[in-house]
Amino acid sequence: MSWSESPTKEHAMRLIQITDSHLGPDSEELLLGLNTDDSLIDVLQLIAAEQTAVDALVCTGDIASNPHSGSYARFLDRVRDYFTAPLGWLPGNHDSAELMANLEHPHLPEPRLMNLGNWQLVLLDSSVPGEIYGELEESELAFLERVLKAGSERHTMIALHHQPIPVGSEWIDEYLLRNARDFFGVIDQHSQVKAVTWGHVHQSFHQQRNGVQLYATPATCVQFKPNSQRFAVDTVMPGYRWFDLHPDGTLESGVSRVNGKIYRIDYQSAGY
Ligand SMILES: [Fe+2]
Repeated sequence: MSWSESPTKEHAMRLIQITDSHLGPDSEELLLGLNTDDSLIDVLQLIAAEQTAVDALVCTGDIASNPHSGSYARFLDRVRDYFTAPLGWLPGNHDSAELMANLEHPHLPEPRLMNLGNWQLVLLDSSVPGEIYGELEESELAFLERVLKAGSERHTMIALHHQPIPVGSEWIDEYLLRNARDFFGVIDQHSQVKAVTWGHVHQSFHQQRNGVQLYATPATCVQFKPNSQRFAVDTVMPGYRWFDLHPDGTLESGVSRVNGKIYRIDYQSAGY
């Protein structure tokens, strides 16, 4: 465990973020030699072992390596094997927003506005069909604006797939959120926005911008090396991020990773 108990813990909502599971059409799928179903299960087991009370979960995209309804159904099955808390999800560049929206499954995810105590979690779709980079369509920005205006008294966290600021690795920062200026333009008008969190970069990251906490979260599969000019696989383990969302609008967060496992990953790969 990498965090300390806070005095207001009993009133905080604990949100768990998992991201970039890259599941294949069947459970044999390998990504750079790693079975992505196995590493997702390892991370889910880690969460179940470490977290006694999960109030909600969010998955920030690249659920599938290639869009296939079976991958999405399997993802939901796996999460539900361990958790009954509400789950939100949103598409990444490897996903099909359409397949996700039309999936038939007994345990479908929550709508893209989730209420968590005094907080709300807004899920945005930054995927652009056929592209690796991200962009928020006009309708997404309008949705965000609407939600922030309607819930001006609610502390807000925004989740999306793509990084809205560079994380320091040239190759992946080519594929960030292209209209981040418009995105921050909306956020800057609404002081109840406390945090933004994303996936895509397969690494842990934290920065602050105008009092808003900005986070990236490790993938549940292979990790990318931070501060690398070219594509490089990191040897750190898959993991997840936790958030404690306090009623007063403050929050705490940390990352935890699988330990005691050896994965057969091709660490020399030049791309994925
Ligand atoms: Fe990814």
